[in-house]
Amino acid sequence: MFERLNTPQEAYNYKLGAALKMEQTVLDMLDDNCEEAHDEQLRQLFRHHQAETRQQIANIEQAFALMGWDVDTSPCPAIEGLEKEGKANVKKTDDAIVDGVLLQGAAEVEHHEIGVYENLIITARAMGRPDVARLLEQNLEQERHTLREVLQAEERQAAML
Ligand SMILES: [Fe+2]
Ligand SMILES: [Fe+2]
Repeated sequence: MFERLNTPQEAYNYKLGAALKMEQTVLDMLDDNCEEAHDEQLRQLFRHHQAETRQQIANIEQAFALMGWDVDTSPCPAIEGLEKEGKANVKKTDDAIVDGVLLQGAAEVEHHEIGVYENLIITARAMGRPDVARLLEQNLEQERHTLREVLQAEERQAAML
């Protein structure tokens, strides 16, 4: 763990670690979402993205390896906040309308993940590491695809209100 970040490489190492922590947390959140969701299609969406998330974790670990760094996590309070808010919202919400709340939470998480990967990819390219950028582009594409699916499901739900 870094006390201070003094070089662009250290700053990148730290952010890559935060992305790893983010994905590990998302893996747990998707488990909870599967348990809470009522619609079978929605459960499948979360299950599918959970499998993708495992691949994303492997890609981040591979990015560490390509950089010659030990795999390590950094704090990611942003995802902890989203997890906390999502849980609180689900707890407050009647079962009959909880799927909509799960989708809204999922959309917010995907937006956050997209921002994280966009930053990491720009910096990887700037550091002359297209190999690392390519790995993270796979993750970014899965997040973007998932966000589209989540928003479409949200629209279908909203149309039934
Ligand atoms: Fe992810
Ligand atoms: Fe995601």
